[in-house]
Amino acid sequence: MVRFVTPLLLASLSVTAFAAQSCSSSSQCDEKYPCCSQYGECGTGAYCLGGCDPLASFSLDSCAPMPVCEDKTYNWNNLNNSVTQDKYLGNASTADWTYSGKVKTEDGNLIMTMPANSVGTLFANNHYIWYGKVSGKIKSSRGKGVVTAFILLSDVKDEIDYEWVGADLTAVQTNYYWQGVLDWENAGNISVDGEDTFNDWHTYEIDWTPEKVDWVVDGSVRRTLKKADTYNETSKQYEFPQTPSRLQMSLWPAGQASNAQGTIDWAGGDIDWNSEDIQTVGYDYAMVGEVSVQCYDAPSDVTKTGDNAYIYTKSSAMESDISITDNSTVLASLGATGLDMDLGADKSSASSSASNSIPTSNGGSGGMTSNITSSGESNSSSSSGTSTTDSSGTSTSGFTQGTATQDSGAASQNERVLRGSLFGVLVALVVLVTI
Ligand SMILES: *[C@@H]1O[C@H](CO)[C@@H](O)[C@H](O)[C@H]1NC(C)=O
Ligand SMILES: *[C@@H]1O[C@H](CO)[C@@H](O)[C@H](O)[C@H]1NC(C)=O
Ligand SMILES: *[C@@H]1O[C@H](CO)[C@@H](O)[C@H](O)[C@H]1NC(C)=O
Ligand SMILES: *[C@@H]1O[C@H](CO)[C@@H](O)[C@H](O)[C@H]1NC(C)=O
Ligand SMILES: *[C@@H]1O[C@H](CO)[C@@H](O)[C@H](O)[C@H]1NC(C)=O
Ligand SMILES: *[C@@H]1O[C@H](CO)[C@@H](O)[C@H](O)[C@H]1NC(C)=O
Ligand SMILES: *[C@@H]1O[C@H](CO)[C@@H](O)[C@H](O)[C@H]1NC(C)=O
Repeated sequence: MVRFVTPLLLASLSVTAFAAQSCSSSSQCDEKYPCCSQYGECGTGAYCLGGCDPLASFSLDSCAPMPVCEDKTYNWNNLNNSVTQDKYLGNASTADWTYSGKVKTEDGNLIMTMPANSVGTLFANNHYIWYGKVSGKIKSSRGKGVVTAFILLSDVKDEIDYEWVGADLTAVQTNYYWQGVLDWENAGNISVDGEDTFNDWHTYEIDWTPEKVDWVVDGSVRRTLKKADTYNETSKQYEFPQTPSRLQMSLWPAGQASNAQGTIDWAGGDIDWNSEDIQTVGYDYAMVGEVSVQCYDAPSDVTKTGDNAYIYTKSSAMESDISITDNSTVLASLGATGLDMDLGADKSSASSSASNSIPTSNGGSGGMTSNITSSGESNSSSSSGTSTTDSSGTSTSGFTQGTATQDSGAASQNERVLRGSLFGVLVALVVLVTI
């Protein structure tokens, strides 16, 4: 056996060298792969679009400018307005949503699915919202460890949440974060009438203005957060969600073993990959009916030089550090970044920098809750550990998130698949050698 192990180990090490560098606001990306994705890894292309964290990227303008809010109602007769990450370059007029995972439409509803051992589904809107009212008609998933989410998430991790924990179908949990600071006191539950959140349609709304957030269920205001109540006397700042945010809808395995223990506990325990729904239809699922977005005006004192994009102008990343400009939001290729948006416009060179251009799918675990440790503290090592395990687990189970590998992102996708299956092979070999 040893003779086989050595070359595989070497191959694995060389492939691992392509693994994306991780990033955070205290350790920014370097200039070559300047964009820090929502999951904390450096790259170009899709890494620079929705979710790209300007504070953890090489510079504030490394991420592509953010498409402005658009009033719109979404129905689900087909998925024509939705693309996978490798197909989106920042033009929100061509695709309203990017997604990963296995999804389908049925009777005008969107079904977000999570087959056994997968990382679930993430549906992210490509238009940012800088204050507005979003509403969704939703039936949650069910089962312990299964979390359905309907959230507003900004690139600097301001967040306003609805989350359904499958272990308790009588309520929906609400929460908010300011710049990713985990504060357990911010959570609140709303009990929901009727049979349960899995069987009944309810309409869940987030009504977000510069002064307050209302969580509105079936037309009744059930929780209000006033900006005035979030003032921190020490820092002299309002710790209130206040930066342009995208609507993200997801289904994710919060109760899978590789997550932080606090996340698993919060989700009601270990996920059951042999659940009733997996046995009967092949996956856990959540259903989404009509979703609508109504945009509100930006704050009256905003610096406005155009009407196409929001940009960050200062690293304090507060409301007053956002401008509205005519900057383009569109990258010419998956090799381009906010620093050189036209790179690769000449198609012949587009594939040259394909490595690290499409983030590995993390399914629905997009919000801050994926970071909850037992103590309620953020655990960054566990968060990056999770993403690696997720992608490997996904590949080895044969369920591929995202899609097709036929365009300029092909090289990096193949590397990831390879990395995933090598991980599987290595685990198998380690077991054999140990025996
Ligand atoms: C927006 O456009 C201006 C002028 O073209 C440019 O200098 C600036 O870097 C752009 N900002 C971002 C965040 O891309
Ligand atoms: C959606 O796409 C399908 C196939 O790609 C096409 O047949 C259908 O006409 C499209 N529907 C709309 C509303 O554009
Ligand atoms: C975005 O797509 C729309 C619709 O296809 C197109 O008209 C527009 O020119 C595109 N914008 C950019 C900047 O590429
Ligand atoms: C919400 O409900 C869950 C379980 O139903 C419970 O564990 C949690 O403590 C509640 N949170 C709040 C803020 O009341
Ligand atoms: C207020 O700000 C200070 C300084 O940034 C910070 O240490 C503290 O945790 C904040 N308090 C709350 C309640 O968030
Ligand atoms: C988890 O926490 C780390 C460090 O605090 C942060 O960089 C990362 O973005 C967080 N992950 C998510 C999904 O928010
Ligand atoms: C943080 O994550 C690491 C790796 O998953 C884990 O070993 C450690 O116990 C976690 N720390 C806390 C406080 O949960």
